[in-house]
Amino acid sequence: MAEEQQLGFKVEEGPGGRYIHVPKGLYNVVVDVTSISGVDPKGLYTTYRGYDVVDIGRNADFYEAAYLVLYGRLPCEDEYREIKRKIDGYRGAVPRKVFEALRNAGPSHPMYYGSLGVVVMGQHLVSSEWRFDDDYIYDHALRIIAAMPVIFAAGWHIARTGTYIDPDPSLPHAMDALRMITGREPTWLEARAFETSLVLYMDHGFNASTFTVRVIASTLSDLYSAVAGGIGALKGPLHGGANEKALKMLLEARKEAEERGRDLVDYIEEFILNKLKRREKIIGFGHRIYKRRDPRTSVIAEYIRQLPEGEYWLAVVRKAEETAWRAKRLPANIDIYTGILYYQLGIPLLMYTPVFAMGRVVGWCAHYIEQVRNNKLIRPAEKYVGPIGLKYVPMSGRCKR
Ligand SMILES: CC(C)(COP(=O)(O)OP(=O)(O)OC[C@H]1O[C@@H](n2cnc3c(N)ncnc32)[C@H](O)[C@@H]1OP(=O)(O)O)[C@@H](O)C(=O)NCCC(=O)NCCS
Repeated sequence: MAEEQQLGFKVEEGPGGRYIHVPKGLYNVVVDVTSISGVDPKGLYTTYRGYDVVDIGRNADFYEAAYLVLYGRLPCEDEYREIKRKIDGYRGAVPRKVFEALRNAGPSHPMYYGSLGVVVMGQHLVSSEWRFDDDYIYDHALRIIAAMPVIFAAGWHIARTGTYIDPDPSLPHAMDALRMITGREPTWLEARAFETSLVLYMDHGFNASTFTVRVIASTLSDLYSAVAGGIGALKGPLHGGANEKALKMLLEARKEAEERGRDLVDYIEEFILNKLKRREKIIGFGHRIYKRRDPRTSVIAEYIRQLPEGEYWLAVVRKAEETAWRAKRLPANIDIYTGILYYQLGIPLLMYTPVFAMGRVVGWCAHYIEQVRNNKLIRPAEKYVGPIGLKYVPMSGRCKR
């Protein structure tokens, strides 16, 4: 009982059997098993299918990592050629109806373009009934993965210029994605830095958007609907929206530093401490699982160093980390690092979270498949604490003041 209290759960007998009350936010609650990725709270491992995420981030390209996450092992040469052929081909085969829908959408946060585009794609490509055989699901998964950068970049540019940049299937996926977003040919280093961030974002245990996808999958809905749900969950600032908000925070700090005639490297400590004093969240810091260190940050840091103002930004983020750790034992997470990287790459601020989605979509597809292969409807119980027994009152009898 004491242990239950300490862990924040309790077991109660009810009319339907035993009910387990779990901590709010499912804190430390294990809801299922997975063999796709694992995040060790002690920081001993963060793995994709048994490989260290840092190893994969440093060495694998988008296609290899996507194959690993989706199919469970690194591809052989012919399998690599096939997944590359499909992803590159499908990038150039996004249905016209998607672009029409984006044209009608008008200006909005680009994450909306993602959900809209994916739903229209599903409506167009899923004929009558969604099927669950491997060839069918994997084929749609690759179509969605390929389409994500096209949809987000087209939505972004259409809202601003009325036109968009066509995908180039002869380019590698990540390089083409970055080119479509920024409108210019990236250097090899820029493309590889961007690709690495997509690889590191691909999967991360039962995070909020992945869990959303699994809930939708558990109803046996289709993959397009599940991915649209994932995009919705990722948009929030406590999850994927953090990379955009983290960079905004650094830019705000830089502006304040300039106004005071101070250097940001020197000013960031005061800025962070003031935020903590006001009990504000420092976006890009803290994590539900990692309580000491997010291992993905070191890989992104290697690229930040090589890009414009790299040493300066690393000095800023290291000082911020030192301060947040000393003051509140908060480690930096990947989003403050990717926020800086995307700024260096010239990606528009509002496109940072869509870029996260372009990587995470691979994990969503893998989790969709894992869930439907061994399915049980995810439907928790609730404890109703409102009144009962109230009787309907006609309008004339209500609101007597
Ligand atoms: C990611 C996050 C939601 C995890 O939250 P969590 O596991 O539920 O942790 P909690 O929110 O319970 O935080 C525990 C304590 O640390 C504080 N804390 C956590 N993250 C914080 C942050 N970024 N800034 C300031 N305080 C923070 C909480 O306020 C709380 O303090 P309290 O006990 O004094 O109330 C949280 O760290 C956060 O909001 N971070 C900022 C958003 C972000 O970067 N998200 C991307 C995650 S990859």
